[in-house]
Amino acid sequence: MQEKKIGFIGAGKMAESLISCFIEKKLVAANQIIAGCPGQDRLNYLNKKYGISVTGENQTVVDSADMVILAVKPHQLQMALDNICGLEGKLIVSILAGIKIDKIEQITNSKIIRLMPNLCCQVNHSAGGYSINEKTTEEDEKLFLHYFSEIGFFYKVEEEKLNIITAISGSGPAFFAFFIDEFVKAGVKNGLPQDIALSLALNTCFGTAKYLTNTKTEPSTLIEKISTHGGTTEAGFDVIKESCIGEDIFRFIMASKKRAEEIGNYE
Ligand SMILES: NC(=O)c1ccc[n+]([C@@H]2O[C@H](COP(=O)([O-])OP(=O)(O)OC[C@H]3O[C@@H](n4cnc5c(N)ncnc54)[C@H](OP(=O)(O)O)[C@@H]3O)[C@@H](O)[C@H]2O)c1
Repeated sequence: MQEKKIGFIGAGKMAESLISCFIEKKLVAANQIIAGCPGQDRLNYLNKKYGISVTGENQTVVDSADMVILAVKPHQLQMALDNICGLEGKLIVSILAGIKIDKIEQITNSKIIRLMPNLCCQVNHSAGGYSINEKTTEEDEKLFLHYFSEIGFFYKVEEEKLNIITAISGSGPAFFAFFIDEFVKAGVKNGLPQDIALSLALNTCFGTAKYLTNTKTEPSTLIEKISTHGGTTEAGFDVIKESCIGEDIFRFIMASKKRAEEIGNYE
């Protein structure tokens, strides 16, 4: 697997997260990665920072790579693959939100793994899901997992489940960041220095995830453990119950899922 080449069509935020992670984990050498996008400044930056090959031609990416990662925005897909040949037989990994395997197969006639990662792959802690088309072999899936299982937790699911995964773990880091930001604002409003408020919010979030993971405790059990009758946590939960925040969280996750479905239907 060491000598396999990885190509990126699209060299934005997600492509960079994956590139930095693959290199840092020594899954692939820099000279085995090639990335392409229209912006020459962006390509110069990636070449300088990571030592990878870069090109303004998507055809060069396809010609050079064993595994091609599609990392453009969903509406840029058609344009990115326009007039590209030689995709048949290649392994394509698409990380585009919403875009169905069928649609990519119509354009490329290739082996396709549709993956929904998140930006946390940059810190080797991504989470998400993937589906494959019929053309994809066990060998292809093994190759894909060789790289991706090193940078996160990816579950093989039926394709229709990828839209809820997009909402929960694809967009999820932004939602969790929103909560962290609100905790920080509350701390600052109450006199804590910004850096201390941020550290408290981050480490509480990180510690909670670690606690739940390591002790295999259910979230509801942890809530019960901390909420003593008449105590501070219970006082907070009284407001949570009044404000229907649980329903609001469900609603914003469903809105995100619906948008992934819409992208799949219209792009
Ligand atoms: N961001 C996330 O957290 C996240 C999480 C999961 C999945 N995704 C998916 O990942 C994909 C990329 O997202 P992103 O956040 O990385 O977007 P981004 O930063 O905007 O990157 C898009 C890249 O595609 C390039 N591009 C545009 N047109 C192209 C073309 N015709 N040929 C080749 N490259 C082209 C852009 O280059 P120029 O800038 O030069 O135009 C840019 O480098 C999206 O489909 C998104 O749904 C994102």
